[in-house]
Amino acid sequence: MSEPTQAMDRRARVYVSGAEGLIGAAIVRELKRRGFTNLLGLAGDGPDLLDWVKVEAFFASQCPEYVFVASGRSGGIDLNQRQPASLMRDNLLGSANLIHAAHRHRARKLLYLGSSCCYPRLCPQPMREADLFTGPLEPTNQAYAMAKLAGITLCQAYRQEHGDDFICGLPANCFGPGDDFSPENSHVIAALIRRMHAAKLAGDEEVAIWGSGSPRREFIYADDLARACLFVMERYSESAPINLGGGQELSIADLAGLVREVTGYPGRLAFDPSRPDGMPCKALDASRILGLGWRPEWDFHRALSATYAWYLEHENGIS
Ligand SMILES: NC(=O)c1ccc[n+]([C@@H]2O[C@H](COP(=O)([O-])OP(=O)(O)OC[C@H]3O[C@@H](n4cnc5c(N)ncnc54)[C@H](OP(=O)(O)O)[C@@H]3O)[C@@H](O)[C@H]2O)c1
Repeated sequence: MSEPTQAMDRRARVYVSGAEGLIGAAIVRELKRRGFTNLLGLAGDGPDLLDWVKVEAFFASQCPEYVFVASGRSGGIDLNQRQPASLMRDNLLGSANLIHAAHRHRARKLLYLGSSCCYPRLCPQPMREADLFTGPLEPTNQAYAMAKLAGITLCQAYRQEHGDDFICGLPANCFGPGDDFSPENSHVIAALIRRMHAAKLAGDEEVAIWGSGSPRREFIYADDLARACLFVMERYSESAPINLGGGQELSIADLAGLVREVTGYPGRLAFDPSRPDGMPCKALDASRILGLGWRPEWDFHRALSATYAWYLEHENGIS
């Protein structure tokens, strides 16, 4: 791997917003593993991002040099349909406050995390960074995706107007320790783990899975995504967003089979092709970050096992 062109000093003041979320916590683990000693906004010490006065006061007193924007509100199709206004407003406001504060207080660099939902609904696969803004969004999460696109455009605008080194990363679907396993908000991997574990304990003969199982999706383990975030923070300084992918792409049927193996569920998986499949394939083109020399380190099976182990330790605290 190439040497970082903009290596971060291990004593630099680094603020991870959303430090208790899935991705933020993984970034904090990686920073600590590498010996960063001056991490800001941990253990609930960060400001409420919707409150400009608090965000401004936090930046004025802490003066972060590097900012990882791993905060935001997101959810599945249900939340996106029920609360598009609050999802859009919270994400717009939180990002605008953070990005403006980072500019005012001269942060050396900021990484903003967008989402693969930012790509057009009918985007050619795998999705290339150049495909952004080329077509209509998926209507079910349009409000959320628009807010994320606005965050990206805002970073680009601060770079253009003020020369701020603000970059944007677009992560693949992430999973890992600290994922949301609740029935209301869990994404596919967390949901499959929870349901197969429950079926194993209940002795159920079958777990029903929506759709045919044939759609292909891409996943990245949280610790690999955290490494990718640090990688671009130290090596990438362009206005164009960069895909943070290169993890595992596989069919839902193969994924479900692996989760069955990892959880030790002995029953059947009953796919229901009468339920909608969604897009046949959704994956990021990771050639830009791979071309810079980054590689994922986690074998997918081992990453699933680590996620299941975390779930077993924490399941009593999960509603
Ligand atoms: N997970 C994925 O697969 C994925 C993929 C692509 C992009 N992303 C994006 O990456 C970011 C992080 O994702 P994630 O999965 O780690 O999310 P997450 O687990 O839900 O964590 C989000 C974090 O943001 C914090 N937050 C939300 N609103 C806040 C506010 N007003 N003030 C301060 N903190 C606030 C949350 O704190 P509280 O819990 O205290 O509210 C939480 O710590 C999000 O913007 C998401 O859209 C995620």
